[in-house]
Amino acid sequence: MPLIVVRQLTREYRMGAQVLRALDQVDLDVEQGEFVALLGSSGSGKSTLLTLLGLLDRPTAGTYHLAGLEVAGLDDLTLAHHRNQTIGFVFQSFNLLNGLRADENVALPLRYAGVPRPERLERARELLRRVGLGDRVGHLPTELSGGQCQRVALARALAVDPPLLCADEPTGNLDSRSGAEILDLFRELHAAGRTIVMVTHDASVAAAASRRVRLRDGRIAEDLPG
Ligand SMILES: Nc1ncnc2c1ncn2[C@@H]1O[C@H](COP(=O)(O)OP(=O)(O)OP(=O)(O)O)[C@@H](O)[C@H]1O
Ligand SMILES: [Mg+2]
Repeated sequence: MPLIVVRQLTREYRMGAQVLRALDQVDLDVEQGEFVALLGSSGSGKSTLLTLLGLLDRPTAGTYHLAGLEVAGLDDLTLAHHRNQTIGFVFQSFNLLNGLRADENVALPLRYAGVPRPERLERARELLRRVGLGDRVGHLPTELSGGQCQRVALARALAVDPPLLCADEPTGNLDSRSGAEILDLFRELHAAGRTIVMVTHDASVAAAASRRVRLRDGRIAEDLPG
């Protein structure tokens, strides 16, 4: 069974009397281990779709089975728990907590999962070593470069070892070299079997993916493998 099975997924935003359909009856299957690049012009619905896939939002209509579980009907608490266990999310703007050290940021999802502090900090530091930040574990986000912050965010996304990694333009705020380094980390994760769905405007990022899905006006306009 595919990791992601989406049917007729629709998301409307109400703006006063206006209804804007940001996502329009999308059907999408994503198999375990795929690296999907979500493409499309500004406003085409990429972030809307990714946010739904990442369980950060609920659809107006349609169904979403994630790892065999229909998630649309879950209550907020169950949904949050499922999200914490199943999904790592990386944002363009990192979304780190500025008052916490790198290792504490990475350990946060483990705290929600109930892992005791010494163990979760140990795991966090191991993850930071893996993304090349073994010498920065005690730094605050304000003491790190953008590329380093994104590595911390990626390590945090991997903390609970989730089957699905969602990323919304993870290289969008980075210079080309830092962006290439982050992309290399995603490539390694893909090679190790992780499922990745990534929104990107960057052609080199799209080229690294195993599949390119292009949105237009909230619908899938193109779906290219290889
Ligand atoms: N919270 C919201 N309230 C109202 N409209 C929204 C909201 N979020 C998104 N939209 C609208 O939905 C449409 C799709 O937005 P979305 O953010 O998914 O686009 P995108 O493809 O990610 O664009 P970009 O490349 O600029 O990030 C746009 O027309 C946008 O204005
Ligand atoms: Mg967007």
